[in-house]
Amino acid sequence: MCFLYLSFLFLLPCPARGIGHLPAARTGGSKLTSIYQLGDSLSDTGNLIIESPDGVASAFARLPYGESFFKHPTGRCSNGLLMIDFLAKALDIPHLNPYLSRDAVFTHGVNFAVAGATALPTESLADKNIVNPVTNSSLSVQLDWMWSHFNSICYNDQDCADKLKNSLFIVGEIGSNDYYYALSQGKTIEDVNSMVFDVVQAIIEGVRRVIQNGATKIIVPGTFSFGHFPAYITACQAKNSAAYRKQRLLNNLSLYHNDELKKRLQLLKQDYKNITIFYGDYYNAFNRLLQNAPRVGFNGTSDLRKACCGAGGRFSFNPNKMCGARGVPVCANPDGYVIWDGFNLTQKAYRILARWFFQSTISPLINSS
Ligand SMILES: *[C@@H]1O[C@H](CO)[C@@H](O)[C@H](O)[C@H]1NC(C)=O
Ligand SMILES: *[C@@H]1O[C@H](CO)[C@@H](O)[C@H](O)[C@H]1NC(C)=O
Ligand SMILES: *[C@@H]1O[C@H](CO)[C@@H](O)[C@H](O)[C@H]1NC(C)=O
Ligand SMILES: *[C@@H]1O[C@H](CO)[C@@H](O)[C@H](O)[C@H]1NC(C)=O
Ligand SMILES: *[C@@H]1O[C@H](CO)[C@@H](O)[C@H](O)[C@H]1NC(C)=O
Repeated sequence: MCFLYLSFLFLLPCPARGIGHLPAARTGGSKLTSIYQLGDSLSDTGNLIIESPDGVASAFARLPYGESFFKHPTGRCSNGLLMIDFLAKALDIPHLNPYLSRDAVFTHGVNFAVAGATALPTESLADKNIVNPVTNSSLSVQLDWMWSHFNSICYNDQDCADKLKNSLFIVGEIGSNDYYYALSQGKTIEDVNSMVFDVVQAIIEGVRRVIQNGATKIIVPGTFSFGHFPAYITACQAKNSAAYRKQRLLNNLSLYHNDELKKRLQLLKQDYKNITIFYGDYYNAFNRLLQNAPRVGFNGTSDLRKACCGAGGRFSFNPNKMCGARGVPVCANPDGYVIWDGFNLTQKAYRILARWFFQSTISPLINSS
């Protein structure tokens, strides 16, 4: 028995080990059998590079993106697997295929997330003089895709309800890019704080639409703490501000967004008493990961905000010379780093966050519904 167990572990590809032996997740005797994911680069497993192969984000259609797991780029914004990959693994379902991969198999769910996507539609951003330079596939576009997908696989509402009763819907993380584009296009932190209401409103509307599609188990993650990300610190133009002050302002923005989101989700739950809706606390999970970083194998002697892949400045981040562009260096040991490219995390960080997310949020959700 023991021998079999061990040899099984050795046969697994290395990154699966961290979460591979979590207890199987069951709903009243039946398993969660599919996941539907909406969001941005935190979760995109290939949509953006299919949608826009020559776009501004084509850098992550190149190595070193993907170098540590697939050995080739897949459109994931990391050196390897994302949280959603580890979660699928823990639920014993295959990696989620990107929706735009038309010939892909979608029996265990669909990934609608698009790297660079915003919670607000392009037109609402334009009203605020903000441009999304990467993609127009905002949350509402992803929800249109979801609607067409279910129309194509369900005979009627009852059939959809039956098909989706063991499905998990993850709405986000989404909204971080709305704030990032605003900051990098010259908006002040006050301007950006005043966007929070609309961004959260768009997410709540998104959750309502997901429920109309037949979802009964939904997780809505908040944002990470922006103040720890090189890209946000670099974009934040607060006057005469030292990095530590920018960090405070940016973390305050994340907290404000997350508090609003939690409040609105509480209200939403009152409208849908028979739907299970959980908040995903990425903010505190990420901060705990930073606090424990040396203990879980990250390089404690270097600045944890420093990107593994990138060039320039204190954080190895320069928006004009990003990871994936020609001549931009990549670190020799990505597992020593939390931040991969200034925005997105390394596979190792995602693996640790996924394990936490599974235990703190997905298991309780499964057991409560
Ligand atoms: C992740 O990185 C890509 C480019 O590397 C960027 O377009 C995207 O906005 C980043 N995601 C987030 C959530 O900041
Ligand atoms: C978004 O849509 C507008 C209007 O159709 C278009 O001009 C723009 O190029 C699109 N942006 C991206 C990043 O595809
Ligand atoms: C911090 O966030 C609150 C909203 O929670 C906002 O009212 C306040 O202006 C922010 N403080 C700073 C210094 O940006
Ligand atoms: C939840 O309750 C509403 C009415 O309050 C009903 O229309 C809907 O079908 C119920 N959904 C499920 C999944 O039971
Ligand atoms: C940790 O970071 C320090 C400072 O950047 C560096 O000198 C050292 O080689 C790194 N160690 C590992 C194991 O990557």
